[in-house]
Amino acid sequence: VFLHVSTSFWSCFSSSALANLWCYSGCGHTPEHWEALDESHCGGQKQSPIDIVTSVVTIDPNLGNFTFVNFSSQSAIKNITNNGHSVQCDIEVDMVEVSGGGLDGEYSVLQFHFHWDVANNSGSEHTLDGHRYPMEMHIVTAKKGILPNETLNHNDGLAVLGFFIDATEDGNISAPWETFTSYLKDIPEEGLSVKVDNITIDDLIGNVDRTKFYRYMGSLTTPYCNQAVVWTIFQEPIKVHKDLQSPDFTTEKALMYLMYSEKQYNGIAPNYRPIQPLNGRNITASPATPPPHQVVLIFITSSFFSSKLS
Ligand SMILES: *[C@@H]1O[C@H](CO)[C@@H](O)[C@H](O)[C@H]1NC(C)=O
Ligand SMILES: *[C@@H]1O[C@H](CO)[C@@H](O)[C@H](O)[C@H]1NC(C)=O
Ligand SMILES: *[C@@H]1O[C@H](CO)[C@@H](O)[C@H](O)[C@H]1NC(C)=O
Ligand SMILES: *[C@@H]1O[C@H](CO)[C@@H](O)[C@H](O)[C@H]1NC(C)=O
Ligand SMILES: *[C@@H]1O[C@H](CO)[C@@H](O)[C@H](O)[C@H]1NC(C)=O
Ligand SMILES: *[C@@H]1O[C@H](CO)[C@@H](O)[C@H](O)[C@H]1NC(C)=O
Ligand SMILES: *[C@@H]1O[C@H](CO)[C@@H](O)[C@H](O)[C@H]1NC(C)=O
Ligand SMILES: *[C@@H]1O[C@H](CO)[C@@H](O)[C@H](O)[C@H]1NC(C)=O
Ligand SMILES: [Zn+2]
Repeated sequence: VFLHVSTSFWSCFSSSALANLWCYSGCGHTPEHWEALDESHCGGQKQSPIDIVTSVVTIDPNLGNFTFVNFSSQSAIKNITNNGHSVQCDIEVDMVEVSGGGLDGEYSVLQFHFHWDVANNSGSEHTLDGHRYPMEMHIVTAKKGILPNETLNHNDGLAVLGFFIDATEDGNISAPWETFTSYLKDIPEEGLSVKVDNITIDDLIGNVDRTKFYRYMGSLTTPYCNQAVVWTIFQEPIKVHKDLQSPDFTTEKALMYLMYSEKQYNGIAPNYRPIQPLNGRNITASPATPPPHQVVLIFITSSFFSSKLS
């Protein structure tokens, strides 16, 4: 989760000065040292991301369906920006909302951005039973009715919707992503931004089943790692065509263009924070989320073998 370079009212938490103080590799403050930054919460007990171990998740009947407002609006996404740590899309202020899904109140969508890795095609921040997907998309929203300068003082001041992104062979499944990707060649350097008017958030999420999701309380995944986030991680990944993620594909059309371009090769990716300890936190799931069959099978198999051996 990134909060710097956002709508102007976020400037009290974020500054380009802070952006230069930390990194993922190649500077003094890599993730292990983020907690040493002044005002940092990165060494706290409720940090993100985490590994979602489905065998310990409990179903919470209170996690009902979400209500999404203006996710299908073509005027919602204002621009795509290379902010040096990610690719971020800013959303028209006070236009797009989310509520329900067990959230306490209404949340206003501020921006979304991505985490990824180039080395081995596995750069999501959260992992699902240890599996790291190629990318993760974070839709960052702020609770309505809280003053912007106080959002980070509430443990649910922000709600982030996290979607895994997977690469698939299926035909033209990712047409909107091709459009999205076509813009990336225009922002090869930090600070560049391009205006967007023909993509919607719904287009990008596609047919992911939004009734299947995990929930836990955590933090921003970038400094200062404030513990102010209600996390939602959707179980099904967004599927984009694998060619969009391939370094062998035409550079201009690569989804992760910024990491294939020479200038930025060592710039943005990998931009995921290592897994943080759960420290006794509860991970819950919506009632529609499938139970972890495979894990149960492995458990039965291993207890079968251990009983044979003992
Ligand atoms: C992109 O949108 C953000 C948020 O409104 C704004 O601060 C920034 O100036 C915009 N960039 C461009 C190039 O329009
Ligand atoms: C975890 O959440 C479930 C579902 O809401 C609840 O039944 C359970 O008591 C919680 N466990 C803890 C340790 O808070
Ligand atoms: C949630 O949405 C699903 C699919 O749209 C639907 O089947 C289900 O009945 C809804 N649940 C509630 C509580 O409205
Ligand atoms: C959704 O967008 C329309 C404009 O496209 C706007 O009139 C309406 O107020 C928005 N809804 C909310 C809840 O902001
Ligand atoms: C992916 O590469 C990173 C180094 O770039 C490494 O730390 C990580 O263990 C690798 N993950 C897998 C699943 O191979
Ligand atoms: C937030 O701003 C309001 C005025 O807009 C002020 O009254 C309040 O004390 C500020 N809160 C914090 C935590 O700075
Ligand atoms: C995918 O391609 C088929 C055949 O060319 C076409 O009928 C269909 O509308 C396309 N689907 C999308 C979502 O573009
Ligand atoms: C979206 O807009 C861009 C820039 O104007 C254009 O190049 C592209 O063809 C458009 N894509 C679609 C699907 O309309
Ligand atoms: Zn993020």
